[in-house]
Amino acid sequence: MADDLCFFIKDMLIIRPSVKNSMVLRITLLAFVMVCGVFMCSIGLKQISTFTKAGFIDIKVVEQPCEVPNVEKWERPYVHLPKPTTFNRAECACNPVRYFVISSTQRSGSGWFETLLNSHMNVSSNGEIFSVKPRRTNMSTIVDTLDKIYNLDWLTSASKNECTAAVGLKWMLNQGLMQNHEAIVEYFKAKGVSMIFLFRRNLLRRRISILANAYDQSAKPLNGKHKSHVHSHDEAKILASYKPSINTTLLIPELKQADDMVKQALEFFNSTRHIILYYEDIIKNHTVLDDVQRFLRIPQMELKSRQVKIHKGPLHEQVENWEDIQKVLNGTPYESFLNEDYRVS
Ligand SMILES: *[C@@H]1O[C@H](CO)[C@@H](O)[C@H](O)[C@H]1NC(C)=O
Ligand SMILES: *[C@@H]1O[C@H](CO)[C@@H](O)[C@H](O)[C@H]1NC(C)=O
Ligand SMILES: *[C@@H]1O[C@H](CO)[C@@H](O)[C@H](O)[C@H]1NC(C)=O
Ligand SMILES: *[C@@H]1O[C@H](CO)[C@@H](O)[C@H](O)[C@H]1NC(C)=O
Ligand SMILES: *[C@@H]1O[C@H](CO)[C@@H](O)[C@H](O)[C@H]1NC(C)=O
Repeated sequence: MADDLCFFIKDMLIIRPSVKNSMVLRITLLAFVMVCGVFMCSIGLKQISTFTKAGFIDIKVVEQPCEVPNVEKWERPYVHLPKPTTFNRAECACNPVRYFVISSTQRSGSGWFETLLNSHMNVSSNGEIFSVKPRRTNMSTIVDTLDKIYNLDWLTSASKNECTAAVGLKWMLNQGLMQNHEAIVEYFKAKGVSMIFLFRRNLLRRRISILANAYDQSAKPLNGKHKSHVHSHDEAKILASYKPSINTTLLIPELKQADDMVKQALEFFNSTRHIILYYEDIIKNHTVLDDVQRFLRIPQMELKSRQVKIHKGPLHEQVENWEDIQKVLNGTPYESFLNEDYRVS
């Protein structure tokens, strides 16, 4: 019909090209075009709105809303229902997920602790994600990485996928955590992330462990295996036969520096929801692991690790210059490190 009308007007223009009429015709044509335009536009809009309506109905049919988990009011910010883009949570789509981070320092047993956590069928702790420098370049790369992990879209061997009830990572204090502490606290609070601090009480033992480990790393691979994955007690014994010697001039400043860093971290992140654990306490009494599971609000399970501790035994047998160390530490706040020992079961 529109086409016919247009031809009709064209015909009029051709048949009666009188100067007086041409102005009237032009105005008529313009008005006609405007009316046509408005008409077509309204049809277009109607089509768009019926299309979105249909789309909305489809989504409602596929996604049934989850029941709000029955948790206390204070806990609500820490309960999440992520919708991963890389897979479907299937039958666990409505199981709530908690977000956590294990914050630790080198040689404090965090690798061993993480394997314990990952032995839980509902825990995915994805390892030392920020040991890769580009991921901690600035806050926006950090946020991108964390968002992906907490949305369950970071796939590692630790991922439990559908039925993950607690997801997190291991984040060493020196991997951008301290430098960006203000923005990270803000992120943790906004996202509802809980922190698990894991430290070592005996900083002298930690210092010795760092030196021995540095030696292990530079030594030849043992039967072609990497040191950190030693699973046999014999292999562990061979590695433990090396005794480092400690530079006594540097010892006290080093112990103080390590101590200060832990205190500083606890101060920076004090306002987050957190739990503080010590390696020695977990080794002495595994009930600490029940506290961790309660903290993460996951079902209680017995947690297991196949990792064998490499350097164990009395401290005085582990260093070359034990007498010098005693002399330096006697009468200092660190004196107790000489005596505190623990039995490894
Ligand atoms: C952060 O680093 C990334 C990668 O180097 C860069 O592309 C981006 O522009 C940086 N963003 C800011 C806000 O500096
Ligand atoms: C833990 O995982 C099991 C098996 O995948 C699943 O049936 C269970 O619902 C999960 N528990 C929680 C609390 O998500
Ligand atoms: C201990 O470290 C200091 C400072 O780096 C150095 O001057 C000194 O030679 C070292 N001592 C030994 C025995 O290596
Ligand atoms: C953390 O905050 C609490 C209460 O605000 C305070 O009592 C405690 O001393 C703080 N701890 C640290 C390490 O700053
Ligand atoms: C471990 O700690 C719990 C609670 O503090 C205590 O009841 C239990 O006796 C301890 N077990 C051992 C072996 O010390």
